Amino acid sequence: MSDPRLQALQQAVPDLRLKTEPADLEHYGRDWTRRWTPAPLAIALPASVEEVQAVVRWANQHRVAIVPSGGRTGLSGGAVAADGELVLSLERMNKVLDFNAVDRTLTVQPGIALEAVHNAARDHGLVYPVDFAARGSCSIGGSIATNAGGIRVIRYGNTREWVAGLKLVTGSGELLTLNRGLIKNSSGYDLRHLVIGSEGTLGVVVEATLRLTDPPPPSNVMLLALPSFDVLMKVFAAFRERLQLEAFEFFTDRALHHVLAHGAQKPFEETHPYYVVTEFAAGDEIQEAAAMAAFEACMENGWVSDGVISQSDAQAAQLWRLREGITESLARYKPYKNDVSVRISAMPAFLEETQALLGQAYPQFDVVWFGHIGDGNLHINVLQPEGTGDAEFVEQCGHVTELLGQTLKRHGGSISAEHGIGLVKKPYLDSTRSDEEVAIMRGIKRVLDPNGLMNPGKLFDS
Ligand code: MLT
Ligand code: ZN
Repeated sequence: MSDPRLQALQQAVPDLRLKTEPADLEHYGRDWTRRWTPAPLAIALPASVEEVQAVVRWANQHRVAIVPSGGRTGLSGGAVAADGELVLSLERMNKVLDFNAVDRTLTVQPGIALEAVHNAARDHGLVYPVDFAARGSCSIGGSIATNAGGIRVIRYGNTREWVAGLKLVTGSGELLTLNRGLIKNSSGYDLRHLVIGSEGTLGVVVEATLRLTDPPPPSNVMLLALPSFDVLMKVFAAFRERLQLEAFEFFTDRALHHVLAHGAQKPFEETHPYYVVTEFAAGDEIQEAAAMAAFEACMENGWVSDGVISQSDAQAAQLWRLREGITESLARYKPYKNDVSVRISAMPAFLEETQALLGQAYPQFDVVWFGHIGDGNLHINVLQPEGTGDAEFVEQCGHVTELLGQTLKRHGGSISAEHGIGLVKKPYLDSTRSDEEVAIMRGIKRVLDPNGLMNPGKLFDS
């Protein structure tokens, strides 16, 4: 470790684990976007809040930028370290600290995986209902940093709804304890909510108190085949009006094609252009009859051409795999990801315009559509064709994202529904946020991170 700044760090925090091997810099310097060449200064792996504070104070002394790092499953480049930053990996701070049965809260360190939180909640007969496909690898800290959504937002809301308290080490090294697990707290600005979704630009989340809830009622999973795009929101309305939905997800035949090529099982003999996977409460005969009524209404109207309902947990998992396996099946194409949202009421018009826009803009590309349509959230993944260079591809996709941004602006939508802005969507932030809003965000960052060292260059340029 020849860098004098790192020597000073090790001296200041003797027990701090530091890594500087090229393989480690490579591993910790990138996230799932795979578009930047990692070039961090080093990786610090603190084991306590005090160590995190000491690292942040050192960073201020030596003016070294910090990239807070969880499971690095992000899709917007928010955890990329490509410019001599210190990666502050929270992976050793991965424990459950407390379960409170009366408050129904679980207090955890930030590096714990989402799936481990699910398991810990289940051990106490409760659930932490935020859920998405990266559950095994992503960290709670990262999910808080992006206000992650996922497949059950339609029923339970985003991560924000489930964070009852936070501890944050600010960009100047102070420790803030925010909201302390309270249900009601009307004592001024709720700084906890400022931190949720701030993408590591204000400080490092070092502890979270999560709300838990009762396990959901028994449910069924149904896969529907749709003949056209314009019936999608009608099918959604037919199901939502009759059932308590736990999820309502959509994908196209192109998405299915890639998941099947990745080993999933073909659901129908015939091919259909669009699919929906939906999960809903089905604990009694009334609910089961309602599900049949929704299905039949859709069939009668010609909105659905086929369907299958899960008969066992194994079959439910199989149907879910068709949706949840999409991201993994596309990874080798290094897709350019769009993650957009509009209000549900704006969805039909937005879908129509977007389809026309992409049809014109991307005739040469394989474009894969899927997403959390019940939340007004659509993922549009553009696959990089063989023979098209990275830079050329990103430039072309960027141009289309600009057009998409204009469409979103007209419909009052967002350029990032749940993945965050990071590096990927930074140039398009103005399609969703006004200049005044961004100026206020910058001002807030200056207060909590006066030297601009926390994840600089992410979300907006400092
Ligand atoms: C998902 O919902 O599967 C991911 O958020 C979307 C993606 O990989 O683009
Ligand atoms: Zn998603």
